[in-house]
Amino acid sequence: MFTPDTITRFKNAETPFYYYDLDMLRQTLQACYDASSRYGFHVHYALKANFNPKVLQMIQSFGFGADCVSGGEVKAAIDYGFKNNQVVFAGVGKSDKEINFALDADIFCFNVESVQELEIINELAEKKGKIAKVAIRINPNVDAHTHHFITTGLDENKFGVNTWQLDDVLKALRACKNIQFMGVHFHIGSQITDMEVYKSLCIRINEIAAWFEDHGFTVKILNAGGGLGVDYHNPDTNNISDFQSYFKVFKDFLNVRADQEVHFELGRALVAQCASLVSKVLYVKNGQKKNFLVLDAGMTELIRPMLYQAYHEIENVSRTGAADLKYDVVGPICESTDCFRKDVELPESFRGDLIAVRTAGAYGEVMASGYNLRDRVQSLYSV
Ligand code: LLP
Repeated sequence: MFTPDTITRFKNAETPFYYYDLDMLRQTLQACYDASSRYGFHVHYALKANFNPKVLQMIQSFGFGADCVSGGEVKAAIDYGFKNNQVVFAGVGKSDKEINFALDADIFCFNVESVQELEIINELAEKKGKIAKVAIRINPNVDAHTHHFITTGLDENKFGVNTWQLDDVLKALRACKNIQFMGVHFHIGSQITDMEVYKSLCIRINEIAAWFEDHGFTVKILNAGGGLGVDYHNPDTNNISDFQSYFKVFKDFLNVRADQEVHFELGRALVAQCASLVSKVLYVKNGQKKNFLVLDAGMTELIRPMLYQAYHEIENVSRTGAADLKYDVVGPICESTDCFRKDVELPESFRGDLIAVRTAGAYGEVMASGYNLRDRVQSLYSV
């Protein structure tokens, strides 16, 4: 819950805005740092989850690396203090311009998603007289049991190389003289809370890494990707993801030699709980069947509920009474899908009330759009 001082600050701020609780972020990062460093695991923060400058600065101050999916993210990571040799660059469609930028920046590693991409990186590296370090992203065909829009590790997904294409990968690796093979990369999906899924992933990583070694390629990096989920139903209690159990699965089930490194690319679990979208009630519409709260924020500020039917807790920060009315909480955008949630139980609400949509730090502000020529959403930070 927000303190009275925070609510006073909210009242004086222009809505809508993302409110960042930097203390919460720090606690989350510390928990992740403690749990991962215990086993010597390396964590790269997936910038795509949130690239707010203050968030990036704090994350890099913990010594985490950066996982980027565009030239813009590679640049932002370096600009905000991540070390070049701790930057990895993934993505199924890296443009030549982006590859050249990353080569010039001497990043740690490209996570390569196809044979053709490998050949292009080789060609561009050769032109620069450089050796590009790569990990091959392999599609392990492990079902993440998450929303089908955010599952990525099945044969039917566009990501990575499928196992039946691995012979071609080896052929290309042997032919590409400006490529240094570093290891294997996986990412099976997002918002995964079932640890059994990670156990299955470990088993696949072990098999695939052994296959590369059997074919004469030393696997130095085992990159398990990201995906650890958060509890969207409890923004205030139990709100830090269970990093200990997560990393322990990899400690227990991954075969790791002393000369190998284990890498992770966590996004959501690090930043989701530290932010809320705060919006004002513009209008209360009482219909015959439904009551609507029309907010001044919508899918242009937070698209997750509309795009993935994602659940977020919604609170009326201005009222303390019993939540005995039901409202469909909607945005102002000219789309019927512009609804945060239907039948939200809230105290009786009025024009001007402040509504907080919680657990909005991951894939929130970064996915905001200018649709309907809306003003860019603002940010406010805890002091
Ligand atoms: N590594 C790769 C290669 C990825 O594609 C992703 C996320 C991550 C790491 C970080 O995953 P995380 O730890 O955050 O789960 N917009 C969606 C989520 C899309 C995730 C895309 N890839 C959402 O709002 O739920």
